[in-house]
Amino acid sequence: VEPSSPPQDLAGLRAVVSAGGTREAIDPVRYLGNRSSGRQGVAVADALAARGAQVTLVAANVAPAVHGGRHAVVEVVSTADLAEAMATRAAASDIVVMAAAVADYRPATGSEHKLKKTGGGLTLELVENPDILAGLVSGRRAGQVIVGFAAETGDADSDPLEHGRAKARRKGADLLAVNAVGHDRGFGDVPNALTVLDAAGDLVGSSEGSKEEVAAALVSHVADLILRRSA
Ligand code: CTP
Ligand code: CA
Repeated sequence: VEPSSPPQDLAGLRAVVSAGGTREAIDPVRYLGNRSSGRQGVAVADALAARGAQVTLVAANVAPAVHGGRHAVVEVVSTADLAEAMATRAAASDIVVMAAAVADYRPATGSEHKLKKTGGGLTLELVENPDILAGLVSGRRAGQVIVGFAAETGDADSDPLEHGRAKARRKGADLLAVNAVGHDRGFGDVPNALTVLDAAGDLVGSSEGSKEEVAAALVSHVADLILRRSA
């Protein structure tokens, strides 16, 4: 039993949430990958299910112990797998969340055989992956709410939120959840700070706490959008 049970205002709605990080094969035994644990996406899937939505988690290399229990799970490995799984399920979903860390690049040609050492260096040619979120936004169904994530560090020219604003406008998702990483934030179990922006880059809300707490706050913004649209 939860300390306070959330409203069942997403009952009857379907949601698909990607989590984890995609892997791109270099050869049959090696890949390019990233360190995403999948915990944030799983927390969002759980928070949606807690409000009554019927949720599918599309898990890219998420450890089974992290999968969570309130939703169906579909496992994928590569960015191409993830793109296909998301496209299929988004077509039947009211809520689409891209929390997965998608590999920006993949090897131009995967080797069928295990690469052997040659005594010299190795240069891998990489090509850019398609932007799954952008594809989902351009195929958005009427009334569908699409949410993206962005982990931003800022640089010499602008702070993390400025990067987030530009990304929100570029991506066109209904909501972009910006996680400021670095400075001990966003890694492992330490508290997260999530700032939620709309497609214009304007502030919708912000929250701090555990991944579960910031996920619940994000899902409240999703529910607000859904309820406003059906009003
Ligand atoms: N994303 C995606 N497909 C990609 C890359 C990213 O769907 N090929 C999604 C992520 O799941 C996330 C959002 O886009 O919801 C933002 O990802 P991010 O890596 O921050 O943005 P990029 O567009 O890849 O820009 P960059 O990494 O250069 O900052
Ligand atoms: Ca990226």
